[in-house]
Amino acid sequence: MAASKPPRVPVILAFDIGGSGIKAMRLDPSGKPLGERNRLSTPHPARPAAVLSVMRSLAASARPFDKVSVGFPGVVRGGVVWSAVNLHDDWVGFDLAKALRKALGKPVRVANDADVQGMGVVTGRGVELVVTLGTGFGSALFVDGALVPNLELGHHPFRRGETYEEQLGAAALDDVGAKRWNRRVGKALKVLSRVYNFDSLRIGGGNGRKVTLKLPANVSVVPNTAGLSGGAALWKD
Ligand code: BGC
Repeated sequence: MAASKPPRVPVILAFDIGGSGIKAMRLDPSGKPLGERNRLSTPHPARPAAVLSVMRSLAASARPFDKVSVGFPGVVRGGVVWSAVNLHDDWVGFDLAKALRKALGKPVRVANDADVQGMGVVTGRGVELVVTLGTGFGSALFVDGALVPNLELGHHPFRRGETYEEQLGAAALDDVGAKRWNRRVGKALKVLSRVYNFDSLRIGGGNGRKVTLKLPANVSVVPNTAGLSGGAALWKD
């Protein structure tokens, strides 16, 4: 009798929705990449239907996959979007998990993009803060590996009457240039260290690689691909 084929390992299709690009990558259940990262530009205006259509195109070239995880740039609760300041107001109240499940025919889990990035890099020891520098300013806090949900530091006042996002988002980097922006990053790290007394802080996001200042020993820059690989953690029950 011919030996039966071993069952195929479930494949997770991970998405990272950003203000300028939508990325997708296939992962194994441990978060290991199963191929290249694909990226398409975020449509503008970034209404739900337009973003979903880009995600459908990315999914079409990523088959087969069994489950889907999404990092979304706003507050998400139970698959429903609560805020999306860098995309479009039409997202507020939109059930992304349900719409994408319908569009792709697979089970879908959605979480905040910084939370997903954090899940891809935390060690599970102590107080770990993760911030993402991209179009927006994302934040995620973990205590012994457990996520403190819905931390939105980006919209908190930081300095000169502006929020962290206004001072450190991509628009500010364009505006003031890398040198001044790096100085601001340094100032933010000092405030965050005083407030959170973290064991470690990791900086992700597409502009993380533009951080050139000398970092304290417990602060590091992590690759932005963690915003995709962290998606596997959404399926660890
Ligand atoms: C959103 C956060 C998000 C961050 C990075 C902010 O504007 O409010 O939820 O994590 O941008 O995308």
